[in-house]
Amino acid sequence: MKTVTEISALRQQIKAWKQSGLTVAFVPTMGNLHQGHFSLIEKAKTLADKVVASIFVNPMQFGANEDLDSYPRTLEQDQQGLKALGTDLLFTPTPDIIYPKGLDAQSFVEVPGVSEGHCAGTRPDHFRGVSTVVCKLFNLVQPDIACFGEKDFQQLQVIRTMVEDLSMPIDIIGVSTKREESGLAKSSRNGYLTAQQQDVAKVLYACLQHSQKALQSGERDYSSIIQTAKNTLSKAGLKPDYFNICNKADLKEAKVDCKSFVILAAAFLGSVRLIDNIQVDIND
Ligand code: PAF
Repeated sequence: MKTVTEISALRQQIKAWKQSGLTVAFVPTMGNLHQGHFSLIEKAKTLADKVVASIFVNPMQFGANEDLDSYPRTLEQDQQGLKALGTDLLFTPTPDIIYPKGLDAQSFVEVPGVSEGHCAGTRPDHFRGVSTVVCKLFNLVQPDIACFGEKDFQQLQVIRTMVEDLSMPIDIIGVSTKREESGLAKSSRNGYLTAQQQDVAKVLYACLQHSQKALQSGERDYSSIIQTAKNTLSKAGLKPDYFNICNKADLKEAKVDCKSFVILAAAFLGSVRLIDNIQVDIND
């Protein structure tokens, strides 16, 4: 596996593959790779001739008081994991390469609708940072296919919408969330949690499963389902950020006749913000 930092080296390799008629699947990441990321690479390998991964801790998607500086950077370990899975090329640009004029002078991409609410409640500019960097990475890598985890469900919908709205010729593939045995969704931020906190953190997924069962059994008093979940989270020592029962397609509040739901949730455990979601499809 080749690792390239410069845009020219990336473009040269992509051009050579395209000229040979090879297809490219892309997995953008911020590094500190775990089983969740590796499952994206595995999926990508089944969908295209060549797999490109990127590692870029994107400053544009971090808020002023967030963990940009302390975000775990584990390049050597990540390279080993990617190589072992047969990744063909790793792109590791620096912030100067992606944002040569600095963040304030950079054009940006904003996706209305799905970028609003949920995570944007506490992270107002987060999705602008995500859509801008993903757009830029797509222009650099020019993939046929790109894979994203369903754990960041709102992000996945933002990217799907951007690709559709801007007519980008890229298939976006959502890959199911990888979990610890306890149910806790794998995340780079789990590394901030002590063993004891990890045990508390599993309650988030348990609440999602409990709410899923309620919807499946016909319960439609959404505010009561939400209140029960928030009470359980608080009792366990988590501070609910949001717990929203949404229509899967547009992430708006679910109507009473909704058949295809996603429940989006985030909660703080100390200073660590955990997010997760569960999908519920009702078949009549
Ligand atoms: O999900 C992530 O790791 C990031 O938000 C992404 C998609 C790589 C953009 O920086």
